[in-house]
Amino acid sequence: MARVEGKVAIITGGASGLGLASARRMAEEGATVILADINTEQGERAAADVPGAEFAQLDVTREAAWIELIDSVVARHGRLDVLVNCAGIVELASIEDTTEDIWRRVNAVGTDGTFFGCKHALRVMKQAGRGSIINMCSTASIQGGPGIFAYAASKSAIRGMTKSVAVHSVQNGFGVRCNSVHPGNMETPMLSGVREIVRQASPEAAKSMEEIWIGEPQDVANMVLFLASDESGAVNGAALVVDNTTTITEGRVPA
Ligand SMILES: NC(=O)c1ccc[n+]([C@@H]2O[C@H](COP(=O)([O-])OP(=O)(O)OC[C@H]3O[C@@H](n4cnc5c(N)ncnc54)[C@H](O)[C@@H]3O)[C@@H](O)[C@H]2O)c1
Repeated sequence: MARVEGKVAIITGGASGLGLASARRMAEEGATVILADINTEQGERAAADVPGAEFAQLDVTREAAWIELIDSVVARHGRLDVLVNCAGIVELASIEDTTEDIWRRVNAVGTDGTFFGCKHALRVMKQAGRGSIINMCSTASIQGGPGIFAYAASKSAIRGMTKSVAVHSVQNGFGVRCNSVHPGNMETPMLSGVREIVRQASPEAAKSMEEIWIGEPQDVANMVLFLASDESGAVNGAALVVDNTTTITEGRVPA
């Protein structure tokens, strides 16, 4: 039997990068995946390329949109087994350069979006007595980073939320697991964007970025698949790092 056969999964940020790779991997292993993203054009194109996938337009910053999506998925499919909160944005700014707007934009997508997702997925999953919520964090929540102040703060909030959801669920016998995944640098459009901004600001810093280990979206998708499957039944409230030691070695990993 396939590893997530018959499960229904919503993946936010599913139109691109790690969300799309995770959707593809889960679809390969038998899940029905709903790619939820703010980018309709890219999301529809992505869903057409993943067997059995659907696209749903979702702005994760809007709680009403979350309620509508989750209720419609349960109404149409009769269940929701997995939520992957993967939508995210990054803005490069130190604490000194972080404006209120930058802070609010990054936290609206990362922190608020994950909060609403966890809240409303839990509401329906607890009724079924099962479910797996997977929150996409980052090694930034472990290390911080001088130029990603708001992003590191948001990812740290998500790490904390994850553990709170997991313990609340266990203490109430809901049968819902919640874990966070912490990738290092992964080759996605987000990373390409960061690389380009760094290259324009400082070719030297861009060169040192090239020395840092970079993983493939598939590396993260395999972890998401494991957490979505029943194989990870005893993994709950965990922060799982996918970085080939870069949090320990500050990024320098021999090729
Ligand atoms: N790529 C990396 O190196 C890396 C490392 C660690 C963590 N992450 C995290 O992984 C997640 C995915 O990143 P990625 O690299 O695949 O980025 P990406 O830019 O390729 O994909 C992000 C997706 O999120 C969507 N999105 C943005 N705002 C949204 C909103 N308000 N509502 C719904 N969707 C929205 C975008 O349209 C896009 O499809 C993010 O949370 C990111 O912080 C990425």
